[in-house]
Formats: sequence, structure tokens, C-alpha cells
Amino acid sequence: MTPATAETFDTALGSVASDVEAMLDRLLPRVEGPEAQLAEAVRYAALGGGKRFRPFLAVQSASLFGVAAEPALRVAAAAECVHIYSLVHDDLPCMDDDDLRHGAPSVHRKYDEATAILAGDALLTLAFEILADPETHERARVRIELVRRLAHASGAHGMVGGQIIDLTSEGRELDMGGITRLQQLKTGALISFSCEAGAILGRASPEALHALHAYAHDLGLAYQIADDILDAEGDAATMGKTTGKDAAAGKATFVSILGLDRARAQARMLADQAVQHLDLFDERADLLRQAARFVITRRK
Ligand code: IPE
Ligand code: IPE
Ligand code: MG
Ligand code: MG
Ligand code: MG
Repeated sequence: MTPATAETFDTALGSVASDVEAMLDRLLPRVEGPEAQLAEAVRYAALGGGKRFRPFLAVQSASLFGVAAEPALRVAAAAECVHIYSLVHDDLPCMDDDDLRHGAPSVHRKYDEATAILAGDALLTLAFEILADPETHERARVRIELVRRLAHASGAHGMVGGQIIDLTSEGRELDMGGITRLQQLKTGALISFSCEAGAILGRASPEALHALHAYAHDLGLAYQIADDILDAEGDAATMGKTTGKDAAAGKATFVSILGLDRARAQARMLADQAVQHLDLFDERADLLRQAARFVITRRK
């Protein structure tokens, strides 16, 4: 295999994005009748763009263990459903109150708040329906393990727990331990699920699972630091979301604590550390290695 360059990385990310979008298109509801607006809002939220970074991680980690394309993409789609639901709810007026997502009106602006809440609920529950389906894995034990891990990563000990810390910390400074925990929960947990899911599907060794867990821990933190940096100095048109909102809302972020330069250095350090955790894998992990670079150089 040729070494992963920035160009091969972009191509690979784009290719997973189109594959997972096709999978989502198959799995998302198509409903007629009185509930049609819900299905429409779900599709609007899920098929309207995004980097598909969590699907990329799931597909790449699955490829390390020879998992077939279809189950890998199903798990990738499940992780993305939870991610999209988290963004739909994150944008609500009672949370970050954002009008723009992926360069278009956020779901509650396009429809209304109740529809956005219900579209998020539908996406969250769909994720578990996908994982529990025998098409995801023939062994019930593997499916249950995926369900258990995604539930943990999404709930009070994961994304939702991080979101409440994020919201209740507005206007207060956290220390480094506090901000690290916030970011690890709100963003890191789902990134960890995505990296580990391939190993679960591929029934990998505990050592391989542990290495992916350590990689994801550092990568997830670097990913959210980059998000905070982009909020402070990114280009809103490129990002498709409003910038400058964290400072305006008094959010506790790595940027608010460390300032831009030290936040950038921290993200670089974490990305380097992430790559080192992949040492036990051969060149098949090159795209995951490249992903660490992407995380700290991305512009959107
Ligand atoms: C945005 O995530 C929110 C975070 C958890 C950092 P992404 O930047 O991965 O969102 P999209 O789906 O690519 O827009
Ligand atoms: C959101 O973090 C993380 C989620 C779990 C949705 P942000 O609030 O910083 O995400 P953006 O900047 O709105 O995409
Ligand atoms: Mg938020
Ligand atoms: Mg937000
Ligand atoms: Mg942000």
C-alpha cells in the first residue's frame, strides 16, 4: 500500500462520506401521511452535509480487522445518526441557539423546535435499531456490545453528560482537568466509539482495542480543541456555521483557558500522541495516522 498523503486522505474521507450517505439514504425513514414532516426533517438534518469524520474512523478501524464493507458502513451510519442528533439538539435555542448548520438553516429554523427535537429523537433511536439488526453482525453478542458502547458514549457518561457541563459552565472558568473532562465527554466519547467499533465488529484482540481506545482519546480531544479554535478564528462561510459564538456565550473552552497559541500547541501534542498509539498496526493504519494531521489542520 502506498503511504497516505494529504491527497489520498482527502480522497478516502470523501469516499467514506459518499458511501455512508448512500447507507443513510437507505436506512433513514421515508414516511408518507401525517408524520411525513418528521421524516423530511430527519433527512434534511442527516443528508445536508458534514465531514462524516466519525464514519471515516469507524470504516478505517474496521478495515484493520478485515471487516466487510456493509457491516462497517452500518456501524458508521449509526455513529453518524447520534452525531447528527447531537448537532440538531445543540443548535436549539435552549442550547447554543444557532441558526446555521452546514451552510443552511438549522433544523429548528427550517421547520420548528418541536420538529427539531423529534427529528433528533428519531435519529438517536434509529442508531440503535441499526446496531441491533442482524445485518450489522450475525452474532447477538457483538450487536449487544455495540449497542452497550454506543449507549454509554451517548448518554450521561458520554455526549449528553458533556453537553450539560458545557451549558452549565457558561460564564465560569474551568481548570484544565475540568475542560478536558467536558471535551472528552461531549465529543471524545462518540469519537472513541467510532474508533473502537471496528475492533468490536472484527473481534479484535484486547491489545488492538486498547490501542484504538488510546488513539481515540487523544484524537477526540484534539478534534474538539480544533473546533474551539475554528470558532474563534475560522471562516464562517467555509465552516457553514456561525463563528465567534463560544466567546459571546462565555463558554469554557481550551481557547478560553489557554489562549489560541497554547490551544494550538496542545492540539498538536495530542495529535502526535494519538499517532504513537497506533504503533502496533502496520501500514493499514496509515489513514488513521493521517487523520490525526487532518484534525489539527482542518479549516472546517
Ligand atoms: C461538530 O462536529 C461538533 C463537535 C462535536 C466538534 P463536526 O465538525 O464533526 O461536524 P460535521 O458533521 O462535520 O459538520
Ligand atoms: C457540540 O459542541 C458538541 C456536541 C455534542 C453536539 P459545539 O457546540 O462546540 O459544536 P458546534 O460548534 O456547534 O458544531
Ligand atoms: Mg454546544
Ligand atoms: Mg454548538
Ligand atoms: Mg463549537
